[in-house]
Amino acid sequence: MSIEVRELHQHYGATRAVDGVSLTLPDDVQVLALIGPSGGGKSTFLRLVGGIETPTSGAICVDGSELPPGEAGLLEYRKKNGFLFQAFNLFPHLTALENIVLPLVQVHGWSGEKAEERAREAVKRFHLEAHLEKRPGQLSGGQQQRIALARAMAHEPALLLLDEPTSALDPEMKAGVLDLIEELCNAGQRIVLSTHEMGFARQSADHVVFLADGQVIEEGSAERVFESPGNPKVRQFLDKVMKW
Ligand SMILES: Nc1ncnc2c1ncn2[C@@H]1O[C@H](COP(=O)(O)OP(=O)(O)OP(=O)(O)O)[C@@H](O)[C@H]1O
Ligand SMILES: [Mg+2]
Repeated sequence: MSIEVRELHQHYGATRAVDGVSLTLPDDVQVLALIGPSGGGKSTFLRLVGGIETPTSGAICVDGSELPPGEAGLLEYRKKNGFLFQAFNLFPHLTALENIVLPLVQVHGWSGEKAEERAREAVKRFHLEAHLEKRPGQLSGGQQQRIALARAMAHEPALLLLDEPTSALDPEMKAGVLDLIEELCNAGQRIVLSTHEMGFARQSADHVVFLADGQVIEEGSAERVFESPGNPKVRQFLDKVMKW
C-alpha cells in the first residue's frame, strides 16, 4: 500500500496528539504496525489515516490520492475501509448476524438479501456459525471481537484499521483473535494496526512506526526496528515490554 503523510498535526486543545508527522511508506508494505508508549498518538494517527477525523493541518495520501478535506468526501473514503476498535462496539440489541448486515445495508446501500448472504459468508470464514443468532451480551469478549472483525471485513475493505484489537481480551481469547488477524495478513489484506502485542507486531507486520509524544521516533522494517532499534527510547521501550 502507499501511504504518504506530510507535516500532519492533530491538536485537541493544548494536547498535540499528532505533532508534525511526515512519513513515506515503502510501496511493498502490506501490514503496518504502530507501536509506542500509551498516549503517544497511535489511535489518533489511525483515525486520521482511516478518515474518521479531519486533521488540524497536514496531508495524508493513500494510494496516490490525498484524503479530501471535508466531511462529505471523507465519508466516501471511510466507507472503503474497515475498522475494529479495542472495545467491540457491537449494537447490543442486535444479533451477531444483524450486526454485520446492518452497515452493509445502511452504509453501503446493499440489498438486505445480498447483505445477509455476505454476512453469512463472513461468519463462516471466521468459524462463528454457532453464534449467528446471539446478541453481544450472550457472547464472550473474544467471540464479540471476532464478530466485530467479521463485520469490519464483510465489505472487503481496501484498508483494515485495527486499534488495539486484543487489549480488552484475556490471553486465550487474545490468541484466537490474533490467529484470525494473522490469517487476514497471510491472505494479503492490507492492514494498519496499533498494538501493544510486540510479538505479534514482530511476526505479522512488514513495517513498524514508533510514535511517542505525537512524533515518529523511529520507523523501518519490523525486523530492523525490533532487532536493532537506533533510538535509545525505542530500545528502552522494547526492553521493558519484551521482558515479560
Ligand atoms: N478526542 C480527544 N480529545 C482530547 N484529547 C485526546 C483525544 N484523543 C486523544 N487525545 C489525547 O491525545 C494523546 C494521544 O492519544 P492516543 O489515544 O492517540 O494515544 P495512543 O498512543 O493510542 O495511546 P494508548 O496506547 O494508551 O492507546 C493523549 O494525550 C490523549 O489524551
Ligand atoms: Mg490507543
